[in-house]
Amino acid sequence: MLDRRIVHSMSTRRTRSRWLLAVAAIALAGGAIAAGDLRVHRERLERRLLAAWPDEAAADPVLVRFAVAEARPLFQRDCAACHGADLRGNTAVGAPDLTDRVWLYGTGRVFDIERTILYGIRSGESKARNVTDMPAFGLRGVLTDAQIRDVVQYLLELSHRPYEPEAAEQGRALYYGTQADCTDCHGSDARGDSDYGAPDLTVNVWDSGGDPQSLYDSLYFGRHRIMPAWLGTLSLEQIRALAVYLYTVSHAPGAAPPAAGGAG
Ligand code: HEC
Ligand code: HEC
Repeated sequence: MLDRRIVHSMSTRRTRSRWLLAVAAIALAGGAIAAGDLRVHRERLERRLLAAWPDEAAADPVLVRFAVAEARPLFQRDCAACHGADLRGNTAVGAPDLTDRVWLYGTGRVFDIERTILYGIRSGESKARNVTDMPAFGLRGVLTDAQIRDVVQYLLELSHRPYEPEAAEQGRALYYGTQADCTDCHGSDARGDSDYGAPDLTVNVWDSGGDPQSLYDSLYFGRHRIMPAWLGTLSLEQIRALAVYLYTVSHAPGAAPPAAGGAG
């Protein structure tokens, strides 16, 4: 009697533990299948993101959601040191605010942004954006100290801030004169040239600082701002994700439009 009970309880325990094992095995297999599913799903989205035309990807909500999730941590890891954790740039290194609609290169399409990330700007990479840079007018003795101060006043006028009219008038003459030839790169309307990466001087957006001293320094020492190339460091898919992310951020309904209207 006693023996049988022991035997019975032992066999129930064995059955129970077998049952538990089976449940655990099923759960594990289920988990593995789910993880595999996720991986396949992810790979499929990665392929779709890369196969799409850059500008098409930004119009597909599924791809945008995927790209933004991919890109956010990458941006914090690789880009935030220069562009800021909030993407709003850093005048100390001349890294632009990436949340607004003011672009040095192109018009802010995914295609333009992607190319900049791939090859960089003056990065040394053979396909880098590198047509020209801001000359050192003071250091090279092209403009005198007083002339540079006059041009700074004209820049204040151009960007709709308080300025000294007489000095600005002199500065204006220098802007259009052959001595400095600012129009050559920044245009006769001072709206810049997005093939050269010469900034629009009318919208009061300054990557190296817009106070009179910073403007003076830009003119005196020139600028030779460098954006590293990411091809080879990041995968093509990661670069596409970053480009879609930056497009999305800068085209969000609340994103700041250019101060004086214009390129979007
Ligand atoms: C070492 C500093 C540095 C790092 C790191 C860096 N950038 Fe830049 N980036 C710059 C500078 C400086 C410029 C502006 C160059 C110029 O004025 O010509 C720039 C320009 C850009 C532009 C062009 C903006 C425009 O107006 O056309 C984009 C897009 C950009 N960076 C994205 C990124 C992304 C994405 C990363 C990370 C993968 C990154 N940057 C990492 C310094 C950096
Ligand atoms: C040869 C082409 C070229 C000429 C000429 C030129 N610039 Fe520039 N300028 C640039 C480029 C390109 C940049 C972008 C920064 C860089 O070179 O890294 C720039 C940047 C600047 C900046 C800094 C803007 C910022 O966002 O901080 C100012 C200010 C400026 N230029 C004003 C002028 C004025 C005024 C003149 C004439 C006295 C002039 N530039 C002549 C190409 C030029």
